[in-house]
Amino acid sequence: MSGFLNSTIARKFAMALSGLFLVLFLAQHFTINFTSVISKDLFNDISHFMGTNFVVQAFLQPILILGVIFHFVMGFILEAKNRSARNISYVKFNGSANSSWMSRNMIYSGLVVLAFLGLHFYDFWFPEMVHKYFESNPEDVARYYDELVVKFQSPVRTILYVISFVFLSLHLIHGFSSSFQSVGWSNKYAKGLRGFTVAYAIIIPLGFIFIALFHYINNL
Ligand code: HEM
Repeated sequence: MSGFLNSTIARKFAMALSGLFLVLFLAQHFTINFTSVISKDLFNDISHFMGTNFVVQAFLQPILILGVIFHFVMGFILEAKNRSARNISYVKFNGSANSSWMSRNMIYSGLVVLAFLGLHFYDFWFPEMVHKYFESNPEDVARYYDELVVKFQSPVRTILYVISFVFLSLHLIHGFSSSFQSVGWSNKYAKGLRGFTVAYAIIIPLGFIFIALFHYINNL
């Protein structure tokens, strides 16, 4: 059993499961953020619910944070193992001949997404934790929208976000479809599923780009 858990297959399996979990989170996160483009009140109401609901705060949020940490730590481990395997049998490794640019550079697209998460947590998550748990502020249901749009007054931050979403797309184009292979999904639906994963990997980051640019232009 411990041999299995230490094997590359098990690591890829765990990587795929955590990746699929984060893909689900991304769809939810995108849907909520997209409401900020449609209606200020709707965005405030949903954010208030998510920010104060006991189940979300005490269970879902910690699971999400652990999922993020697990995914990137596992990613570093897999990359290190792949590199050492490549060094041993480098003659057989034939780069672009048998793999895509995106699959060979998952570690770099992943590092950009990780750097983005650092900025993103500094922008939203840490201030939110301080506001809620370290300062005794009176509850204000209408504050979320204003806190969001103020961040997109900065052209530099907006550009950094947009660049990060392009890398997120590159990361997902390979990662989302290969995660199904890693969990052993191979049947007559596999081809259609691949089309769906590629569409998702392009549309969701494009949607995030739209939200960032919408608020930047709206702020001008
Ligand atoms: C324009 C795009 C985005 C906007 C406007 C946005 C907005 C926000 C906001 C307002 C929060 C604070 C939520 C809270 O109250 O705790 C947040 C948290 C977070 N965001 Fe984003 N986000 C965007 C894109 C992304 C992307 C692409 C990712 C992942 C790659 C991401 C990952 C996270 C994570 C992990 C958290 C912390 C978990 C949470 O508390 O919900 N965000 N984001």
